[in-house]
Amino acid sequence: MLGLKDKTLIALDEPNSIQSEMYRTIRTNLEYSSIDKEINVINVTSSVANEAKTTTACNLAIMTANKNKKVLLIDLDLRSPCIHRAFNIKNKFGITDMLVDFIKKGKDIDCKKYVQNIQHEQLTGQLYVITSGTEVVNPTEIISSKKIKELVNFLKNDFDEIIIDSAPSGVIIDGVATSKLADGTVFIIERGKTKIDIAQKTIKHLKLADVNVLGVVLTKVPFSKDTYGYYGNGQSGNNNKLKIVVE
Ligand SMILES: Nc1ncnc2c1ncn2[C@@H]1O[C@H](COP(=O)(O)OP(=O)(O)OP(=O)(O)O)[C@@H](O)[C@H]1O
Ligand SMILES: [Mg+2]
Repeated sequence: MLGLKDKTLIALDEPNSIQSEMYRTIRTNLEYSSIDKEINVINVTSSVANEAKTTTACNLAIMTANKNKKVLLIDLDLRSPCIHRAFNIKNKFGITDMLVDFIKKGKDIDCKKYVQNIQHEQLTGQLYVITSGTEVVNPTEIISSKKIKELVNFLKNDFDEIIIDSAPSGVIIDGVATSKLADGTVFIIERGKTKIDIAQKTIKHLKLADVNVLGVVLTKVPFSKDTYGYYGNGQSGNNNKLKIVVE
């Protein structure tokens, strides 16, 4: 059973909070964001660091699993990996180790060594995590490689949906590279912090790279109980909410 350490996993910690309701709404909006193309792999990125990519990726994965789906969350932020800390799980064998093994063994690889099952009383669906693994000196090269694409495609056979937590896309190109592994990308903007010109430039960059930007999630938005009182009693005690603006 999962021992929650911080407040990242609010969808498990406080499933009836306003924030959890917002993640549920984002999840639903994502389902309608691409009618013609099936979206099985979703990447989460933003312009710069600290805009709530990991928090969003984790909670979206939980909400998706709770829709009775088998979900895999992969930590592909190889520069600043956090998923293992959010879920309080080991990061001994992760995606970098799995890739080395996959290059050697191909489809005969033993996935069980790398894929960790998450269990929690608030988790009604199936959620699995692949952490970042052994630290590497060439993260961009790894996430841009043909082999990682092959590995993600191979993993697709076993899961209804894969969610990738990635590095930013503004200053470094890592988030663009992980977007190329996905069918669609969710772009995070932090209210009051993200510079709008940098966000616009980054989205343009993603689109020039032929990335399917599914929508923008605005994070850390203050809310007033009066406006959102119908969601509940604000028991989260955290004056923030998420808002989605789907293009
Ligand atoms: N809705 C929210 N309201 C307030 N604080 C939040 C919210 N979501 C995330 N945070 C806080 O913002 C900080 C950054 O969150 P997170 O690690 O998810 O960002 P990140 O974009 O993944 O960062 P990095 O680029 O370093 O990987 C954390 O301290 C987290 O607790
Ligand atoms: Mg992160």
